[in-house]
Amino acid sequence: MARKKITVVGAGNVGATTAQIAAMRNLGDIVLLDIVQGLAEGKALDISQAGGVYAFEGSVTGTMNWQTAAGSDIVIVTSGIPRKPGMSRDDLVEKNTEIVKSVSQSIAKFCPEAFVIVVCNPLDAMVYAAAKTTCFPHSRILGMAGALDAARYALFIANELGVSVADVRAVLMGGHGDDMVPLPRYTSVAGIPVVELVEKEALERIIERTRKGGIEIVTLLGYSAYYAPAAGAVRMAEAILLDSKARMSCCAWCDREYGVGGAFVGVPVILGAGGVERIIELDLNEQERAALTESVGHVKQLMVKVDAILAS
Ligand code: LAC
Repeated sequence: MARKKITVVGAGNVGATTAQIAAMRNLGDIVLLDIVQGLAEGKALDISQAGGVYAFEGSVTGTMNWQTAAGSDIVIVTSGIPRKPGMSRDDLVEKNTEIVKSVSQSIAKFCPEAFVIVVCNPLDAMVYAAAKTTCFPHSRILGMAGALDAARYALFIANELGVSVADVRAVLMGGHGDDMVPLPRYTSVAGIPVVELVEKEALERIIERTRKGGIEIVTLLGYSAYYAPAAGAVRMAEAILLDSKARMSCCAWCDREYGVGGAFVGVPVILGAGGVERIIELDLNEQERAALTESVGHVKQLMVKVDAILAS
């Protein structure tokens, strides 16, 4: 079987780490692309030399040229400005919409069959910008946020209980922001509902920490997280390339689902060779539904801004 080709756009912290993890996991031939002279080439060279230690199956190539990315099976978009202390994800919308627009035009031209995984913020709005610009089918455009948020949520639960994170099945929905909607009723540890294992107060603390998971790291480092976001993006790419039908929280297009009415927003999906193959519709109670509606409302406000920027 021919090796798959994965292009990572943006050779900053998230992009380079994504390329590294993808190479380590032998996903295929990796192309790392950036507009900054020498950046992608240098980092790709360094990563590929790690393959001298671990014998990667695929190549790692750094480039400034979209031609090198041509025909990619998956394009992971990490380019864009990250947030600094004091900034919200929404503060990035103007600059990053311009960047995602330009990257998406190149994706449409050079990688017309690719699946696109968007990682830059404000996440849900940037997935929308990529979808509008590429005009790709919605099943092929998705955003990485739920994989990260669920990983944080699962880890905090595992730490609280002293169990393996592998046993925690965390479910959350909504936009990638402070109003994301963790769903304790659907979150379980080795099949046991988390609400039966963790005290209400501790669970509320965990949920709050998950919501603020991004800013906790920005405050410590002075810049945005990248190890876990990169791991989340590679996990999604893997599910598509291996057709694993994994159940994950992803930012996906919802219309009638959950009554969203047309927006990219975090929902549990089945990821496989068809990309977003199915959106899992959970039965939400009134409180959960209200929280989701609020989060979707926030995403839709950003979509209006994106529309205006794309039209200008
Ligand atoms: C975070 C940023 C990447 O949640 O959105 O860490």
